[in-house]
Amino acid sequence: MAAARRPLLAGNWKMNGLSTSIAELARIIEGFDAALSARVDLLVCPPATLIAAFAERAKGCKVAIGAQDCHFEAAGAFTGDLSAEMLRDAGASAVIAGHSERRAGHGESDLLVRAKAEAALRAGLLAIVCVGETKAEREAGRTLEVVGRQLAGSVPDQATPQGLVLAYEPVWAIGSGLTPTPADVIEVHAMLRAELARRFGEKARATRILYGGSVAPRNAAGLLKAAEVDGALVGGASLKASEFLSIAKVYLET
Ligand code: 13P
Repeated sequence: MAAARRPLLAGNWKMNGLSTSIAELARIIEGFDAALSARVDLLVCPPATLIAAFAERAKGCKVAIGAQDCHFEAAGAFTGDLSAEMLRDAGASAVIAGHSERRAGHGESDLLVRAKAEAALRAGLLAIVCVGETKAEREAGRTLEVVGRQLAGSVPDQATPQGLVLAYEPVWAIGSGLTPTPADVIEVHAMLRAELARRFGEKARATRILYGGSVAPRNAAGLLKAAEVDGALVGGASLKASEFLSIAKVYLET
């Protein structure tokens, strides 16, 4: 990982958490001490119902709060949706766009994901754009092609290293306990970085590329210390402060 890229550990709580979960956030905040916050950025993305309360609790602390999805419009007749502006107003500073659970479960296309990422940039939120291949695509040797196409279609032209983070999340690794080898991750991240550089020039080298999919304390060191890996998007293990913080502690090891 290049020195210019500060690692980011982002927790995606998915559809988990009730108002009582603020106690878990408090444990994350308490454990994220000066030594850790000197080394890594920490972000918690709870369900939208908890963003305002979490942001209030995290005020003045080093832990940032994010959202898991947004609509691409700023306001209007979109029942049940939330705009990037609303999420920012509630205290979020980041939003995930194009998670595979939304691509697959809600039919989100690259074009829609791109519009959501544009909305995030418009609202001043960090956009975390997700890409990743299915098991069948990997087995067919199509990983780089699929992920490259998602990158091309989902990343807005106005993306900057400050405004956008990429997350490589192989669909088959999510929630399965399976992970690619560090070498496999490096191969994909290097391709993503080369594509970013081709499209955005040298400044793209400052863009952070996270790995996501079954990151846990037992495998975090191998995955997060791999070249080209600038942090992780963590699902299940981010729900428990002890596990999330023990992943962050990888960055204390030299
Ligand atoms: P798990 O860490 O539970 O595999 O989830 C990964 C993920 O989808 C994060 O966005």
